[in-house]
Amino acid sequence: MSMHKIALLTLTLSGLTAGAAIAAESPKLGQPITEKDAAAWNQSIGPDGVGLPPGRGTVKRGAEVYAAKCEICHAAKGAGTPADRLVGGQGSLDSAQPIKTVGSYWPYATTLFDYVRRAMPLNEPQSLSAEEVYAVSAYVLNLNGVVNEKFIADAKSMPQVKMPNRDNFFVVYPGNLP
Ligand code: HEC
Repeated sequence: MSMHKIALLTLTLSGLTAGAAIAAESPKLGQPITEKDAAAWNQSIGPDGVGLPPGRGTVKRGAEVYAAKCEICHAAKGAGTPADRLVGGQGSLDSAQPIKTVGSYWPYATTLFDYVRRAMPLNEPQSLSAEEVYAVSAYVLNLNGVVNEKFIADAKSMPQVKMPNRDNFFVVYPGNLP
């Protein structure tokens, strides 16, 4: 081995040792996120419904999902307690005691799908199938009187739902939109 190569090898080895020493000094918090783990969170649904998965759910099926997975925290028919109330409050927003619920406040039905799929049930997030999320969304919308009991939630119908408070959300600085 030429002196040059030995020198290079020594350099490389010392480089590795230095790298290992730096790694050993790090606080060892967390770990690199995998593509698969990131995909579980990178699933935002916009108002236009782009990104909604295949599947569908009826109000009737949603009532079953709700009883099994949601009622323990949100009470029968979304009345609330111990967790947030999901129903009612329409017309209360400009009163002294506004009641903000999915039905009174949220501007888009697609957000309901996104939120429930992402975060609910609180004790078991991301455990529901797309069909179950569609169904329970249909049920919560029906409880709020936003859709009738024949409504079937799917990628086509959800963006078309007109939420009661939709028009009270507006862009303050339209010039800043991309
Ligand atoms: C273990 C208790 C628990 C269960 C079970 C649960 N939730 Fe929740 N839910 C909560 C809590 C607590 C919040 C408030 C979270 C926050 O504000 O960060 C919440 C918030 C929500 C909201 C947002 C309300 C708002 O207006 O901000 C919706 C919608 C919702 N839950 C739907 C559901 C549905 C649908 C299910 C069943 C699939 C479910 N939750 C099951 C505890 C629960």
